[in-house]
Amino acid sequence: MKYAFSIAALAAVGSAGPVVTKRQAAAAVTDVGILNYALTLEHLEDKFYRDGLKNYTEADFAKAGFDSTFYANLREISYDETTHVSFLSTALGDAAVAECTYSFPSTDPASFVALASVLEGVGVSAYLGAAASIMDKDYLTAAGSILTVEARHNAYIRSSIKQSPFPQPFDAPLTFDEVYTLAAGFIVSCPDSNSAKPQLPLKAFPTVTLGTTGPIKSGDTIDLLTPGYTLAPKDGSAPIYAAFVSVTGPIYADVTPMAGGFKVVVPKGVNGQSYVVLTGCKDRVTDDTVAAGPAIVEITNPYPSTA
Ligand SMILES: *[C@@H]1O[C@H](CO)[C@@H](O)[C@H](O)[C@H]1NC(C)=O
Repeated sequence: MKYAFSIAALAAVGSAGPVVTKRQAAAAVTDVGILNYALTLEHLEDKFYRDGLKNYTEADFAKAGFDSTFYANLREISYDETTHVSFLSTALGDAAVAECTYSFPSTDPASFVALASVLEGVGVSAYLGAAASIMDKDYLTAAGSILTVEARHNAYIRSSIKQSPFPQPFDAPLTFDEVYTLAAGFIVSCPDSNSAKPQLPLKAFPTVTLGTTGPIKSGDTIDLLTPGYTLAPKDGSAPIYAAFVSVTGPIYADVTPMAGGFKVVVPKGVNGQSYVVLTGCKDRVTDDTVAAGPAIVEITNPYPSTA
């Protein structure tokens, strides 16, 4: 099947008006904006893999325990991301955002592969979260055809580092702003020309990082750090909660303030690459109620993982 992507068709769709979904802000969300949002993420992934393959040779990966099959698959993943970039860029034509400059905290093959796993997981949650806002069904199928591939990249890489390839029955959808918050941590600067392109009105929440190392399971206490700022309700009254994102609704946990952040007991019902935001209320997690985050927390519970 061939998708008749064209900027004229996209522009027509773009004028259809705002889309509001449960967790997304009601700001003007158009299919063109969503495609540029997807392209922004694909640029990041594409550059990440191209850099990694430039930085580390097949021999470097072999020394770190990743065999020639893994290396070949890594090159395929890199090719897939480059192809996603050209697919979306072609679809968007003059409206397409360009590649930015990035900073990736990977220093050797092992940390590169670990970050690849995280980025692929975020990619899956980004496409999943965007799905409900896509107006045109053909674009939804096109986005879905990328999502399923990102999910297989994610499962393959997770499996290669001895993590469960499918740690839970459902993946977690992230909102545009939640994804942007995570992506912004890697983006150093973007070409000025990007600001003239049709994009979603994205905002990055204050960063939350995980201050706990080692394996984490439900029932463990973890530290969520708010680096460089103190998260306190303005009126000193409203409490702050941690909310773990899940497709069936957020799972809330009470937090205990500590120096530089909060302590949280990981609830039941989350597993694998999980996302936790800090919110001022306990009844909904939307781009309006999120105060900071998400932080990414890898959770490893014994089977059955979400019991
Ligand atoms: C590759 O190496 C450069 C230079 O050291 C570094 O800036 C970049 O972040 C590295 N990228 C990856 C993906 O390892």
